[in-house]
Amino acid sequence: MITSQNGADCVDGVSLREIAERFGTPTYVYSANHFLSQLEKLTDGLAPVDAGVRYAVKANSNLAVLKLFAEAGTGFDIVSGGELERVRRAGGDTSRTVFSGVGKRVDEIDFALKVGIECFNVESSEELDRLSQRAAAFGQPAPISIRVNPDVDAATHPYISTGLKENKFGVPMASAPELYRRAHRDPNLSVQGIDCHIGSQIAEVGPLIEAAEHVFSLTDSLAREGIAMSHVDLGGGFGVRYGNEAEFDVAAYGRALAKCRGKRALQILVEPGRFLVASGGLLLCRVEYVKPSEEDDGISFAVVDGSMSDLIRPALYGAHHDVVAVDETQTTTAQSRQWDIVGPVCESGDFLAKQRVLALEGGQLVAVMSAGAYGIGLASNYNSRPRPAEVMVASGEARLIRRREALSQLFADELID
Ligand SMILES: Cc1ncc(COP(=O)(O)O)c(C=O)c1O
Repeated sequence: MITSQNGADCVDGVSLREIAERFGTPTYVYSANHFLSQLEKLTDGLAPVDAGVRYAVKANSNLAVLKLFAEAGTGFDIVSGGELERVRRAGGDTSRTVFSGVGKRVDEIDFALKVGIECFNVESSEELDRLSQRAAAFGQPAPISIRVNPDVDAATHPYISTGLKENKFGVPMASAPELYRRAHRDPNLSVQGIDCHIGSQIAEVGPLIEAAEHVFSLTDSLAREGIAMSHVDLGGGFGVRYGNEAEFDVAAYGRALAKCRGKRALQILVEPGRFLVASGGLLLCRVEYVKPSEEDDGISFAVVDGSMSDLIRPALYGAHHDVVAVDETQTTTAQSRQWDIVGPVCESGDFLAKQRVLALEGGQLVAVMSAGAYGIGLASNYNSRPRPAEVMVASGEARLIRRREALSQLFADELID
């Protein structure tokens, strides 16, 4: 995502130093081009099945990001009324928006029914009942898909694995036919499809195809009972490179899916989040202090102004993000050494990266790479830290797409009298 132009580290022609001067740090920086090129890579790779893309809003829900994808023609995958409202505000197409999530509240269901969405991805028998009741009150059938849990190991981090029996998501394959029969008989429900999502940051095509095979064979047996549907939504989860790992091979997935679907007249939907936005974002921070170790085998700390409250992935999952010292060759007089890059939050788990060999000193800018997905969305105000600004670079210009939170916003909703 970073290229060097006349010795300056840039995102699509705009220097990171200039972005830091204009907008301060810590700041998330996104490349619109990069987001769109990932979308193109995905649609090209999945061309053999002509998959419909429903961008998973949770990965990065900034309105400008949603607008970019809406204009590029994607639909959306949402998990709350808040995300639905974001899609609307960004000009997204709600008729190509699927609503996932295990805990849909009555008000959220009513909102989605009123707005008119593509489909509720139903995750339990009780949710099916609730949907039927709300649709009856609304006076129009609710479009549904049932999220099945194919009990396939996605071979990813346990916190982001969702397709195993022990996970809370979806319904077991064995229970799905009965739910479909119920839905088929119910005039308040309209069966549209079937869905699954087995996890995130999946490296290999194999587990996704295994899940798809289970799902297609269920559609076959339902079709034999006269329960037809129009789409199969296979979720997201396509892995990206954070360090040395290989990026998920979308073209291989597209070819394998085409084989797997065969001649069935079913539209394939996918719900990618991370794949579209992770590698096109970085968190730009500035070193506040360095604490070099005085012992030969001790740990040296570079304390930056970004923290786990801005990017929690390293603290939460031990996730790896590459770190670049911005304009390293030009600005730094420091010698390279090994650093743990940590934030100001009062937790020993507050680190962004460990054991990185970089030339750092106070004032140096660092870019924490591949931070476009599950970065700002998981940011918090822990330690009463305002959340960072977000900047999008498009057509050679950096534009503020979210102001840095002001101190007054931290307690604007708190009451003392
Ligand atoms: C139902 C559903 N769909 C799609 C996604 C997006 O996953 P990813 O960002 O790995 O593509 C998630 C992520 O948790 C999800 O729960």
